[in-house]
Amino acid sequence: MTTRIAVIGAGIMGADHAKIVAQDMPGACLQVLCDMDETRARSVADIYGARHVATDPEAVIARDDVDAVIVASPDFTHAPLSLACIKAGKKVMCEKPLSQKSGDCLEVMNAEEAAGARHVMLGFMRRYDPAYLEMRKMLKSGEIGRALMMHNWHRNGDTPAGDFTGAMAITNSAPHEFDILRYMLDTEATAITARQPKRSDSKVAPVVMVIETADDQIVTVEVNNNAAYGYDVKAELVGEQGSIATNHAAYTRLDKAMSKSVRHDPDWRDRYAEAYRTQDRAFLAWVQRGYYPELASSSWDGYAAAMIAEAGVRALGAGARQEITFIAKPEIYK
Ligand SMILES: NC(=O)c1ccc[n+]([C@@H]2O[C@H](COP(=O)([O-])OP(=O)(O)OC[C@H]3O[C@@H](n4cnc5c(N)ncnc54)[C@H](O)[C@@H]3O)[C@@H](O)[C@H]2O)c1
Repeated sequence: MTTRIAVIGAGIMGADHAKIVAQDMPGACLQVLCDMDETRARSVADIYGARHVATDPEAVIARDDVDAVIVASPDFTHAPLSLACIKAGKKVMCEKPLSQKSGDCLEVMNAEEAAGARHVMLGFMRRYDPAYLEMRKMLKSGEIGRALMMHNWHRNGDTPAGDFTGAMAITNSAPHEFDILRYMLDTEATAITARQPKRSDSKVAPVVMVIETADDQIVTVEVNNNAAYGYDVKAELVGEQGSIATNHAAYTRLDKAMSKSVRHDPDWRDRYAEAYRTQDRAFLAWVQRGYYPELASSSWDGYAAAMIAEAGVRALGAGARQEITFIAKPEIYK
């Protein structure tokens, strides 16, 4: 039986998900492409052969000919559209973050609890990336002993001057780091400090965060949205008996003019192409077989990322360490 998927949002990520559904997900079809901008929806639908085009996401979620939903519209739409999916009894792969507000995430968790089952999987796709998967496997095998620290670097080429702030670096870019550190270390964040150096121009300076965990580990996160050389995300896990670092996977190296170089990606799409595909296929397997994907981020993970981000913004504003206190984890997410 073919699973009929609706993709909501036909921007950068929506087009990518539409491509995966249409070309890389045997057993699924691209049933509806929905964007409030009809022209954009139609152009992506035409490229990937979507059966229908729509502009109203809530109506799409309610359609009888839609079995499951991928949400790739802007952040503020994620919680309301996830709630609509829960109400309609449909599973949703919602792009990160579940919300920038932890209160919205609580609402989604309450709705899932009331429905008696999880309906939401979040697009924290690093969990499906081969480099992070191997890092976790090595850690679990005892290769480096107890993990003491994790260092994370999240660098983008550039952002337009004045358009991006340090707080946005924490709420928009860093949630991937917040999710992967919790997943990698199997623990929760308990406190955060956030500082910025001063740039000589008006572009946003890097944000450097120090996060403490419930298992007395220290995690550093650098988010540098104006790194000036390309998209570069990397991590190193430091244990008592060694350390594991992710490698930048480059298929070629250029030798020229007495030097050698490898290229950096312009953005996240090439770097995580395999992770997006594996993640979306895991979503399909969940829809078809009913088992929640082992690696997936749940609404609880979305709540945790939002809580860390909120504390991070407070820490940056106050210039002081902020404690992070989660609610007790609901049974449904254990
Ligand atoms: N997982 C990742 O690595 C990753 C990477 C980038 C972005 N994202 C997330 O994906 C989401 C989309 O990002 P993007 O870069 O594709 O944005 P985008 O601006 O390129 O596209 C968003 C699209 O949603 C449409 N839209 C806006 N409101 C809508 C609504 N209510 N209903 C239907 N369509 C609506 C817009 O018209 C636009 O076409 C964001 O939440 C972002 O945080 C995730």
